[in-house]
Amino acid sequence: MKILVTGAAGLLGSAVAVRGAHGLSRGALDVTDTVAVERALAALQPDAVVFCAAIADVDRCAHDPLAEAVNVQAPIAMAQRVPTWLVSTNYVFDGPGPHHPGDPRRPVNTYGRQKARAEDGVLAAGGHVVRTGWLFGPGGRNFPSRLPELLAGGPVTALEDWPVQPTFVGDLAERLLELRPGVTHAIGRETTTWADFARAVAQRVGGTVLGVEALDLGPRPTDARLAPADLAGWSERLDDLLAPAG
Ligand SMILES: NC(=O)c1ccc[n+]([C@@H]2O[C@H](COP(=O)([O-])OP(=O)(O)OC[C@H]3O[C@@H](n4cnc5c(N)ncnc54)[C@H](OP(=O)(O)O)[C@@H]3O)[C@@H](O)[C@H]2O)c1
Repeated sequence: MKILVTGAAGLLGSAVAVRGAHGLSRGALDVTDTVAVERALAALQPDAVVFCAAIADVDRCAHDPLAEAVNVQAPIAMAQRVPTWLVSTNYVFDGPGPHHPGDPRRPVNTYGRQKARAEDGVLAAGGHVVRTGWLFGPGGRNFPSRLPELLAGGPVTALEDWPVQPTFVGDLAERLLELRPGVTHAIGRETTTWADFARAVAQRVGGTVLGVEALDLGPRPTDARLAPADLAGWSERLDDLLAPAG
């Protein structure tokens, strides 16, 4: 079976690509370029697409007009052509959690609303949806992935009391490649907070964590925990963030 992964230079896309999928980064395939998509599909003839391309910066989605094309229109167009697994987010929910796959969605920000619309379109086209949250892994540009570098630069401010289920990208990539049908959840089994995750990293690499009750972020769900949560817990995978296998 030939699996194509889009967004293959990203945190998750690169983890899927190194596990045997044919990876195309944005430079090789802009998913909003319909002519380029047709050309790539004709050349590669994939049996399935794992759609990892996204504008995943939550607050950027609120003001970048490109986000609608990348996060909504492109995955739906792909699903209309090839069996597609859309990587979606726990941000399609608000609180209280944990949320199960069939639970009603209630996104509170533009990113969550875009992902919810993408889910609907992909499912209507016969595709599949895998929801996840709080990814971490070497090379990632998000908060948990960059903690070793951030802590080296000075005290790091992190939220207390907001539950997250950190998910190691390698585990999620393996789950995605199983191509499970329908709407599924794939997330780490241990719940923690941003601040406690950051403290665990600081214990190993040094540095100071300042726990705070609120950060100046845009709208966020109050509790976006997912169930079932059956990927490896973050404490089992911290070494893979801090000392990635060569
Ligand atoms: N990170 C998380 O905690 C998290 C949580 C829940 C769900 N997700 C979902 O997981 C998926 C992967 O996220 P990630 O964390 O791996 O994000 P990421 O590291 O930002 O990767 C996304 C990739 O998509 C690429 N991309 C952007 N616009 C594109 C376009 N027009 N055509 C092709 N590629 C394009 C980006 O390229 P450039 O960098 O060159 O723009 C980037 O390499 C996304 O669907 C995201 O919504 C992530």
